[in-house]
Amino acid sequence: MKKIKGVILAGGLGTRLAPLTRITNKHLLPVYNKPMILYPLETLKRSGVTDIMIVCGREHAGHFMNFLGSGQEYGVKISYALQDRNNGGIADALRYAEDFVDGDHIAVILGDNIFERNFRKELASFKRGAMVFFKEMPDPTRFGVPVFNKAGRITKIEEKPKEPQSNLAQTGFYVYDKDIFQIIRQLKPSARGELEITDANNVYLKRKRLAHAVIAGLWSDAGTFDSLLSVTNEIAQRAQRAHG
Ligand code: G1P
Repeated sequence: MKKIKGVILAGGLGTRLAPLTRITNKHLLPVYNKPMILYPLETLKRSGVTDIMIVCGREHAGHFMNFLGSGQEYGVKISYALQDRNNGGIADALRYAEDFVDGDHIAVILGDNIFERNFRKELASFKRGAMVFFKEMPDPTRFGVPVFNKAGRITKIEEKPKEPQSNLAQTGFYVYDKDIFQIIRQLKPSARGELEITDANNVYLKRKRLAHAVIAGLWSDAGTFDSLLSVTNEIAQRAQRAHG
């Protein structure tokens, strides 16, 4: 099996969580009993990925390093990349990891994505192309949403559609082969001025190299006040149930 490295994307301005994000980066805000970034870090670790790069903006970069250090305390090895520009989008942020990835496969996770499950099996069988994960949601308008044809094949993934064509949301966990960096170089900014990870996934789809799975269990992002509160409550309740 080819080695899989991990990348946590923890940049962005976190404007939807201002004024909290004027104190520190969104990904260091608390989710129940620990800073948000530990959830994606632990998801990677539980998936067997321990060589991890964190891509973050410069404003609060020191906060990440101060908190996580080399990663030894958490059983992983952490490298850091600083984004000069933190409003270029997820795909733009991923470019900063190209040298670190150095031709290996990568598991990319958004720093505000909280998963109950791990991706160990999917990573073990990954060979080439890309893989994305969807979760059923009552209203997926805030997310990437796949469109299916009659044969049940995905024809495209639409980013934040006003009228979603399915009830599936694209989660923030992606697996890529080395082609991702060449694909990102060819992307054009979207209407919101960002290089969209969804556009990169659509290139893999056109090449017939995009695999997908629908996941069960807890998944949430924590990038808005409502999602941050509800995922915090959910994790707190689970912890209370577990400890009687
Ligand atoms: C991003 C992706 C979107 C995905 C979501 C998952 O959205 O663009 O496709 O569904 O993460 O958290 P953003 O957080 O940039 O709004």
